[in-house]
Amino acid sequence: MAQLLRCASRTARLVASSSRSVVACPRAAALSARMASAVPSSFGAMSSTPGVAAASGPHRGVVTAALSTGGLPQAAFSFEPDTLPAVSAAAAAGANGSLAEVAAGWEGDLLVLGVTEEDFATEAEVTSLQSEAVKALDAALGGALAEIVAAGGFDGKQGSQSRVLRLYGGAKAKHVAMVGLGKSAKLAVAPEWGASPFQALGAGVATLAKANKTAAVGLVLLPGAAPAADVAETALAQITSSTLLGGYEATRFKTKKSPTASRLASLTVVGSGLEGAQADTAIKRGEAVARGNLLTRYLVESPPNVCTPSHLAATAAHIAAVAPEVFSLKVYEQSECEAMNMGLFLGVSEASAEPPKFIHLKYSPKGGSASRKIAIVGKGLTFDSGGYNLKAGAGSMIELMKFDMGGAGATLGAARILADLQPADVEVHFIIAACENMVAGAGLRPGDILTSASGKTVEVNNTDAEGRLTLADAMWFAQEKCGATAVVDVATLTGACIVALGTQIAGLFTPSDDMAAALTAASKAAGEKLWRMPFETDYSDDLKSPVADMKNTGSRYGGAITAALFLKQFVNEGVEWAHVDVAGPVWNDKLGLPTGYGAALLSEWALAQAQQAAKAK
Ligand code: BES
Ligand code: MN
Ligand code: ZN
Repeated sequence: MAQLLRCASRTARLVASSSRSVVACPRAAALSARMASAVPSSFGAMSSTPGVAAASGPHRGVVTAALSTGGLPQAAFSFEPDTLPAVSAAAAAGANGSLAEVAAGWEGDLLVLGVTEEDFATEAEVTSLQSEAVKALDAALGGALAEIVAAGGFDGKQGSQSRVLRLYGGAKAKHVAMVGLGKSAKLAVAPEWGASPFQALGAGVATLAKANKTAAVGLVLLPGAAPAADVAETALAQITSSTLLGGYEATRFKTKKSPTASRLASLTVVGSGLEGAQADTAIKRGEAVARGNLLTRYLVESPPNVCTPSHLAATAAHIAAVAPEVFSLKVYEQSECEAMNMGLFLGVSEASAEPPKFIHLKYSPKGGSASRKIAIVGKGLTFDSGGYNLKAGAGSMIELMKFDMGGAGATLGAARILADLQPADVEVHFIIAACENMVAGAGLRPGDILTSASGKTVEVNNTDAEGRLTLADAMWFAQEKCGATAVVDVATLTGACIVALGTQIAGLFTPSDDMAAALTAASKAAGEKLWRMPFETDYSDDLKSPVADMKNTGSRYGGAITAALFLKQFVNEGVEWAHVDVAGPVWNDKLGLPTGYGAALLSEWALAQAQQAAKAK
């Protein structure tokens, strides 16, 4: 034991001294000095946003050159869109008008009808209008709907989109189309699996609006497609967020205006069952989710020479500036992390010329302290080369490893949502140990032993299993420095999780059935797919080291499980913890774009925690 302890403290010193030598390098020193002035390490409630200053920081490569010549617009470095299309809700019927009359009287570019399978009948492969409501609308629109279904291929299935017809006379709208919500009896806002019918509807509306380059869109829900009264607010929030997100295209790093970008400027929803203040509340919720998701996407799509640890810190400062009344931010510099003995985090960062940033964004509810303290810890590797265990060869996806901060992106996205929704009764700590995993003479070697802030020692038998190292010190901080009693970490942690669940589903690992239930509920509410995996403690033997407290990797088999078992070593007695492996769903391979996965999931979890705390009062 004495032997081990001596070994531990010596390695702590080793890490600290070699970390200092990175800073002693003139280039790195200049970098950290410049970034330090761009992003204040401490951001109080009264400061203004340093985001713009950070944007002019020393980004390397093509972006630096472009910036110095003013070639790239400032918007390339924004944290979220300046504006979103305007969403509003209108009454389903006027003083003496019917839904059909309201629809026919709506003036704009594209009128979309939200319909269910019950609005149609299909016989011998020919679909016809069935419900009285859809027939009345068809009459008001001069037979356009009958013409659409007669052409075939549309019968109201969830998420399905009809063709678009140009309207002449009869109706005021220029075009009409339909989007299906599926079966009327299945209109749940939190279905067992995946997107809700209302989320699918919004996505369909956005797709149609984008494909047809329409700006003013009206969405009319037929009576069978209207949400039940008790879920109307959530349904309208979901329609709002999914419409705002559905037409997403990455344009910030292109110099020419995109001809395919969405031109959606306004959405009016008719027939949601809500108007006035109630509708406004719902729309505000939907907009918050959209903003959070977009902030996550902006971060994950950004190249690693833009989205650096400093950029993540600047993003946290941006969020704190949006709602200074509820947020405070402290960004710990390398020397401060050394003082906290974060040997695992600093070991990973050691080979990088970018200064590491340990980000702590704290949400405290307005008007009083909260008894419930929770933490969301995001993996923030702004680039993962693998280190000396270099990601080499086909299939290693090294060129995509900018998305290795997807967990941090989701963490900040969730914080952005809370900035708008501001729940009472819960204190939420958003924590990111942000750094790069690079290769250099001063870098971590396979076989090095590092000492964590918690004091435990780790034999790094693979430098590419770096995420768990950074998370371990971040989780120590969440528990020891913030007093969080429930911690969720979210991380693009293992390729093994993608092998197990594919690219659309995140893996959930926790020994706690309560945490599993809470996160599964959040996943259903968000429409973001999550699947609980076995927390097989028998595999712990895999992580035994003959020389240190543990190794950082086990065998190839069950790699996502052993990663979770590693993290568990850093969870204190009495703390509830869950690990969410988002290596698959952060990225849409087909589109080559981020999904924003996790922002909604984590905010739903935090909001539910707030509600629980309120009930327990
Ligand atoms: N960031 C990767 C995980 C990853 C790989 C995400 C591929 C998305 C796609 C992580 O740091 C990593 O390299 N994990 C290793 C762990 C292994 C060395 C035990 C992996 O999954 O191969
Ligand atoms: Mn790695
Ligand atoms: Zn990684």
